[in-house]
Amino acid sequence: MSQLTFSPLLESCAVDLQRIWLDHETVKFTNWTLLSTPEEVAERVRRMLVRYATKERRGPYVIQSVDGAFVGLIGIDYAHGEHEVWYILERSQWRKGFGSAALSHLLDRIPAASGITKLVATAVASNDASWRLLERNGFSRVSSAIGGFVKEGVSEDLYRYEKVLAK
Ligand SMILES: CC(C)(COP(=O)(O)OP(=O)(O)OC[C@H]1O[C@@H](n2cnc3c(N)ncnc32)[C@H](O)[C@@H]1OP(=O)(O)O)[C@@H](O)C(=O)NCCC(=O)NCCS
Repeated sequence: MSQLTFSPLLESCAVDLQRIWLDHETVKFTNWTLLSTPEEVAERVRRMLVRYATKERRGPYVIQSVDGAFVGLIGIDYAHGEHEVWYILERSQWRKGFGSAALSHLLDRIPAASGITKLVATAVASNDASWRLLERNGFSRVSSAIGGFVKEGVSEDLYRYEKVLAK
């Protein structure tokens, strides 16, 4: 399995995150809007740091490869009473097993005392890499919303996944 390290998101990570949030291909299957300037990226990082300063949310964690290269971000959001896992990797790091390994790494590090009993996730049906990495990590597809993902005037089917965590 790919060796990865996780570290907390810092404002200084905005430079690396430009390669994610200023790249249309990377954000097109996500709820992230495409940003256009480094200043917008820095502002998003600051907002995330505020949003995730709560015990219900986890991360965001910066994922790095063993050689210290920036790989992406992963975290657990909390909304509408549910813990939702999300992940986004820099395009040059796709298809190396890092997405699957990062999710596995995150799952292994959720403490039993966290109070998180179930994780949910969504994946656009045509985003094979996203739903395949969920399935590889023990998530089950529980529903499929026809046209449930709408972005830039185009709608796609949206899968919902769940994983019950051992207590
Ligand atoms: C989704 C994402 C995290 C996948 O990360 P990754 O490191 O490329 O994925 P992995 O290499 O771990 O591969 C995961 C699985 O998808 C498959 N896969 C990877 N890229 C694929 C592609 N382009 N087409 C089809 N299958 C693909 C792999 O073969 C693997 O399948 P397996 O477990 O059955 O062998 C990455 O593409 C990404 O960050 N995309 C942009 C953001 C995004 O879409 N986030 C998810 C929003 S819900």
